[in-house]
Amino acid sequence: MSGRGMVAVVAGSGIDLTGLLDDTDDPVPFRETGDGPPGHPCVFVRGRCGLRDVIVQQGRFHAYEGFNLDRLVRPIDALYAMGVRAIVFTNAAGGLRPEMEPGQLAAATEVVAWPFRRFVLPDTIPTDFAVPGCDHAGTHAWMHGPCYETRAEIHALQCARAATVGMSAAPELARCRELGVRAAVVSCITNNCCAVAPLSHEHVLDVAAKASRRLAYVLRTWLGREE
Ligand code: HPA
Repeated sequence: MSGRGMVAVVAGSGIDLTGLLDDTDDPVPFRETGDGPPGHPCVFVRGRCGLRDVIVQQGRFHAYEGFNLDRLVRPIDALYAMGVRAIVFTNAAGGLRPEMEPGQLAAATEVVAWPFRRFVLPDTIPTDFAVPGCDHAGTHAWMHGPCYETRAEIHALQCARAATVGMSAAPELARCRELGVRAAVVSCITNNCCAVAPLSHEHVLDVAAKASRRLAYVLRTWLGREE
């Protein structure tokens, strides 16, 4: 499914994919100083997963950090220049269906971009393939953030039949389509949006970290089938 060229995996907030790589080269930072306080490590880690050469992008730029669209997708341009022709985006996400549980994985069939005036993105961006082995599949909704959604927004997203909601993937996925890079999105559900308890960033990071091993396993299995 990845076709020819190298594969990259983008690790979302709290997601640690070091378990995906058997051995690695020195990490290459992609966030320049002057970009503001990182909050996320921003490095490309090139390594091997079985017989495959894989680049893991640890950290990413978010719209809520104030970056414009061109800046947000610059890591995708860099991966493309390194020969990457298939990318799996992972992220932390809220589950919009009542049966979704923290720690589960969801494959996006498409990403819908909630309107935000600074960004001109297609409303609906299809993914090119689904990574097998996820617990759920459906539409992923992209929100600008950084606040988690209000009850009204959650209700609107549920009425729109979105399965998951997160703050990344739409700008990057749109750039992949422009470049002809095949792309998929796997979300780690860190919380169910139907829950009434307030959500904290620490909780999101904690659940994402705990789900990382399984996510790495799912990705490793997929890469093995791709050989
Ligand atoms: N909403 C948006 N982004 C998220 C969520 C959420 O509920 N959980 C983790 N990332």
